[in-house]
Amino acid sequence: MARNLFITKSLGDLLQEAKDNKSGLKKTLTGLNLTTLGIGAIIGAGIFVLTGQAAAQYAGPAIVISFIISGVACAFAGLCYAEFASMIPISGSAYTYSYATLGEFLAWIIGWDLILEYLFAASTVSVGWSGYVVSFLKDFDIYIPTALTAATGSILVDVPKVGWQELTKNLTAGLTAQGVNVETLPHVTAIINLPAMSIIAILTVLLVIGIRESANFNNIMVITKVSVIILFIAIGFAFVYSGNWHPFIPKNTGEWGHFGWSGILRGAGVIFFAYIGFDAVSTAAQEARNPQRDMPIGILGSLSVSTILYILVAIVLTGIVSYTTLNVSDPVAVGVNAMGKGMFWLRPIVKIAAIAGLSSVILVMLLGQPRIFFTMAKDGLLPPVFSRVHPRFKTPHISTILTGCVAIVLAGILPISILGELVSIGTLLAFAIVCVSIVVLRKTRPDIHRPFRTPFVPVLPLLGALICLIQMLALPFDTWLRLIVWMAIGFIIYFSYGINHSKQRKINQTPK
Ligand code: ALA
Repeated sequence: MARNLFITKSLGDLLQEAKDNKSGLKKTLTGLNLTTLGIGAIIGAGIFVLTGQAAAQYAGPAIVISFIISGVACAFAGLCYAEFASMIPISGSAYTYSYATLGEFLAWIIGWDLILEYLFAASTVSVGWSGYVVSFLKDFDIYIPTALTAATGSILVDVPKVGWQELTKNLTAGLTAQGVNVETLPHVTAIINLPAMSIIAILTVLLVIGIRESANFNNIMVITKVSVIILFIAIGFAFVYSGNWHPFIPKNTGEWGHFGWSGILRGAGVIFFAYIGFDAVSTAAQEARNPQRDMPIGILGSLSVSTILYILVAIVLTGIVSYTTLNVSDPVAVGVNAMGKGMFWLRPIVKIAAIAGLSSVILVMLLGQPRIFFTMAKDGLLPPVFSRVHPRFKTPHISTILTGCVAIVLAGILPISILGELVSIGTLLAFAIVCVSIVVLRKTRPDIHRPFRTPFVPVLPLLGALICLIQMLALPFDTWLRLIVWMAIGFIIYFSYGINHSKQRKINQTPK
């Protein structure tokens, strides 16, 4: 029994599967499409929401170094993904890679874990999207009822000059320090986050209609966000006051993680979220025209472009304003405000870019998840309904709709903090397993043709796995507990369904 859990899917079968192209999915994506898909998934809440908070609370201007550290760690994982994606161009991403190397049970674990990355990330980012849309509409005097703009049960207070904010411990402490009695401010208890739910519903419909249509929409969103970010960097450099960069690494306050080098490390952990998404490219492998050549281009190209933009934004932003003023949910808009009245025209443009950016992240995450379900169902680990392809649209419509429905519920009722940490722990686990799998497969199957090879194996992948593990350990205990509960649910499903329906198991049991 114990040995059975580790049956692997033969690489020969996987390669044949990729060659046969019997998936029913349309092969239309080019290297450029895959790169924009990656940029679509990467640049979002991380840069538009988290950068400022991480700079203000943990790293100061040295958030630039945090971006470099986190970027290097992701590059290690990215190189491993690129090797796998060029070698096994099947849409299951890390799930497929571990099925070929570490065995079915671990593959199931990773497939189940990837739900935390893709499905939960779609919900997390839609909550950020909701915040930007509410604020954008407010600039045009359009108001959505406050009770319909946040997670069920969260308390919102109307802060003078700032507007409605979620009541957190930090906010209470900040207001109390300014002499404001929080009790006296108008309160509302939120019912549901309606804008967050709506954007997921709209994008789910788009994804059902077609991969080409979705990729086109993504291209428009990516062009919008990247052009505005470049505009911000170009204009921003003229407004930099180098005094804001001194001290570049603010002195540690005495508490671990609050400035100094420990703050830089904590900052790196927080902005890891900004890099999540490059691996989503690998879920579209079966819809790529030439996956063996284009998968590494898509993964590494999108990661490089995003890393360069992140570092430049961080340099400019901390140069325009003092990092101490950046603890807000729209730090880039704060940067534009600091450029003076003459630059106010840039404010709505930045908000539009943020909305476009967050939309594309949600889209690509909602695109990745059903494709993993699709592959798991093809392998028999999930019911066959998940691998149905729409006869006309050629998309995995049922799993797309199911993913959308669950993501809508999560987005409506859960706060961004819980969702975000689950996404980070789930993704880090997936990255670590992919890094280890590269080392395993180099040992067990050195003969396979690898169109792209990760350099410095085993040092680089093992270092990648180690960094991921360290970042996981830095996450709160509650997040670990949620991960364990999530995995326990996964075990129950595997032992009650997957193990009995696994196609690989049936193949292995058939007398030769
Ligand atoms: N990297 C994605 C973002 O920052 C998840 O929104």
